[in-house]
Amino acid sequence: MNLMKKMLAAPAVVLALWAVTAQATTDDAIAERLKPVGEVCVMGQECKGVGTVAATAGGGARTPDDIIAKHCNACHGTGVLGAPKIGDTAAWKERADHQGGLDGILAKAISGINAMPPKGTCADCSDDELRAAIQKMSGL
Ligand code: HEC
Repeated sequence: MNLMKKMLAAPAVVLALWAVTAQATTDDAIAERLKPVGEVCVMGQECKGVGTVAATAGGGARTPDDIIAKHCNACHGTGVLGAPKIGDTAAWKERADHQGGLDGILAKAISGINAMPPKGTCADCSDDELRAAIQKMSGL
């Protein structure tokens, strides 16, 4: 009888261990699925994920068109909230004339102005990338 008990106890322990391990993996999987899709990044602070994005983009592989399509077009494509429209050179030029040229509006694009978010939501864009995107959108 004693032997019988031992024989039953062994698989029970294995089963219990298996259950604990299975639970752990499931919790990990759930945590992974519940992870927020986006993360808020504050300028000047280290930002998880952004480094990876920059690394994937690898050495300026992003073209101004890529940046515009991904970050700027949402507002500048149709002129949402009074954003100067892509290709409307006159509207961009008027702004540039009042802000000290391309560098002036670039500075505003970096800092953000009214409904225009800092860096136009492209947190990992370099100044040069933003400048190229602005030139492309404005034709200046
Ligand atoms: C959430 C909407 C939105 C997005 C996304 C956005 N912009 Fe803008 N942008 C605006 C609005 C609105 C204005 C006009 C702000 C004002 O003068 O009140 C503006 C203005 C600008 C200006 C002119 C600034 C000035 O000094 O007059 C530049 C340059 C600019 N955006 C560049 C960009 C670039 C480059 C991107 C993409 C990387 C981008 N924007 C993405 C909404 C947006």
